[in-house]
Amino acid sequence: MQKTIIVLDFGAQYGHLIANRIRRLGAYSEILPHDTSVEELRAKNACGIILSGGPKSVYEDDGLSMDPKIFDLNIPVLGICYGHQLLVHMLGGTVERGTVHEFGKSELTILKKAGILSAFPDHSIVWMSHVDRVTSLPPGFETIGTTADCEMAVIMNTERQIYGVQFHPEVTHTEKGLLVLQNFVRLCGAENSWQIADFVTEEVVKIQTQALGKKVFLLVSGGVDSSVAFALLEKALGKERVYGLFIDHGLLRKNEAVEVKTMLENAGFINLHVRDASTQFLKNLENIADPEKKREVIGNTFLDVQAEVAKELDLNPDEWLLGQGTIYPDTIETGGTKHASKIKTHHNRVERIQELMTAGKIIEPLRDLYKDEVRAVGRKLGLSEQMIARQPFPGPGLGVRILCAEGANVLPNAAEIEEKIIQKFPEFSAQILPVKSVGVQGDFRSYRHPVVLFSPEQPNWTELESTATAIINTFPELNRVLLCVSHPTKLPAAEVAPAYLISDRITLLQEADAIVREVFAAENFSEKEQIWQFPVVLCPVSFGQGGEAIILRPVESQEAMTANFGRLPWELVQHMSKTISDRLAGQVSAIFYDITNKPPGTIEWE
Ligand code: XMP
Repeated sequence: MQKTIIVLDFGAQYGHLIANRIRRLGAYSEILPHDTSVEELRAKNACGIILSGGPKSVYEDDGLSMDPKIFDLNIPVLGICYGHQLLVHMLGGTVERGTVHEFGKSELTILKKAGILSAFPDHSIVWMSHVDRVTSLPPGFETIGTTADCEMAVIMNTERQIYGVQFHPEVTHTEKGLLVLQNFVRLCGAENSWQIADFVTEEVVKIQTQALGKKVFLLVSGGVDSSVAFALLEKALGKERVYGLFIDHGLLRKNEAVEVKTMLENAGFINLHVRDASTQFLKNLENIADPEKKREVIGNTFLDVQAEVAKELDLNPDEWLLGQGTIYPDTIETGGTKHASKIKTHHNRVERIQELMTAGKIIEPLRDLYKDEVRAVGRKLGLSEQMIARQPFPGPGLGVRILCAEGANVLPNAAEIEEKIIQKFPEFSAQILPVKSVGVQGDFRSYRHPVVLFSPEQPNWTELESTATAIINTFPELNRVLLCVSHPTKLPAAEVAPAYLISDRITLLQEADAIVREVFAAENFSEKEQIWQFPVVLCPVSFGQGGEAIILRPVESQEAMTANFGRLPWELVQHMSKTISDRLAGQVSAIFYDITNKPPGTIEWE
């Protein structure tokens, strides 16, 4: 049976990244709840255990714990952050609230190159995020790595093969993070024991077992996830047992419905059906402005249309399962793991879907994977590079990129904050917009105002990034920072008229988005490959002359859990802005460029 490195989840937003990294290193890894029993771990053929980070304190009554018999399994254990403190606490050391908070970068100094620190350089940058800290070690442990503010940053007990790190090896900001995990995989004896081809083989068996003679009705969008799910289900069940339904909700990009259909047909998906339900979606979305409400309506309308089609086809519900291309970030951001907070409801995680899941009516072969792994599975299954390399596009489509409003949502102390921003950063002028967007801060959802910066000079992206970070960290009323790329100086007062999801607005965004894609595609620059996704957003603010604002949101990311704003060449940004203003004259009030990382912003605005 497959050796598995188990990650026990103590509620970290990024805990699942650990499992993703371990799988990338060639060992199989799964995440399980923190209170999983030793018997279950044995049944999973666990060859190593990683204790994740988490938001609690080990010494408080509500601190999460685990089965102490895990330490007697005689397999390597690695504690990360909360997990590091927990193992110290459980084995007889002490953890206390620290006087110095360590958030962000620290320099790690190595005292002993052994165990998880084998082959380490003497000094390297690590990423910390903690207040509590270890103040005395349990018997049999020694400190092998230290930072200025955290003496016992890396610890080990060689005899019992137990290791702890206060920093986060799973995040890319930790320079040698992968080496820590690679050393751990080696200590578990799991090197080169798994590859993505094994996932395909095992998942095919799982699908066959779960489907048990039933057929699958799969909702497809033309995106990478549902296309790969389609191919995998077909491999497991045969083409005739998988019915693919592409629902056109009218919120796709310009010409996309036709392009997607052609692409899916060319890929050899024969049992593929298309339903134009745009009228129904728009009707259900009439007069709705709240982002979560919009997401709920879109998710439910998908299910209504699917049910109608199933009824027309006279399908017996007992013979069918509903298939989805859900991947892991969809679940975690919807608050779908035991201790994680809800950031936004992904369309494939609305309440009705959750009920169907409980009833065992849903099949989601990619639910534990991240985008990079889904792409690897797609390549393994022989899907075309054109399909696999497509930029991610959210299920609710332009529905979450067209901000709606019942009217202006004015921040009462906006003028005061703008004044403070200008005092601190005199090279800019600042204007807070009377709208709100969704963000993720401290692992929680935020719904706050954006501020626009205006600069007569050509901006420097690095300086802009630190300015944006400083602004968000200083003013809790804000969660996004934009740079105005169409006007160098502050605009007249912003106005917001009631705005909802109607076809004129959808067409306007489709046109702006098509221009952005056209200009972007024509340009070649060295960092182009790094742009992972490029949303274009419509925001109903005008500045005395009518029209709406267009926001450019290129991002760099690996798996959508964290992202940096993309840094396009300035001439390209200017060219995009001018082309939009010229071609959509009279309809566009201003063009902004989103310079917010994730966190504190999310990639999409809603
Ligand atoms: P955020 O905005 O949360 O987005 O940073 C992370 C990634 O998820 C995509 N996204 C969705 N994908 N259904 C999807 O299939 C959804 O409801 C949904 N909402 C966001 C988003 O485009 C980004 O790639």
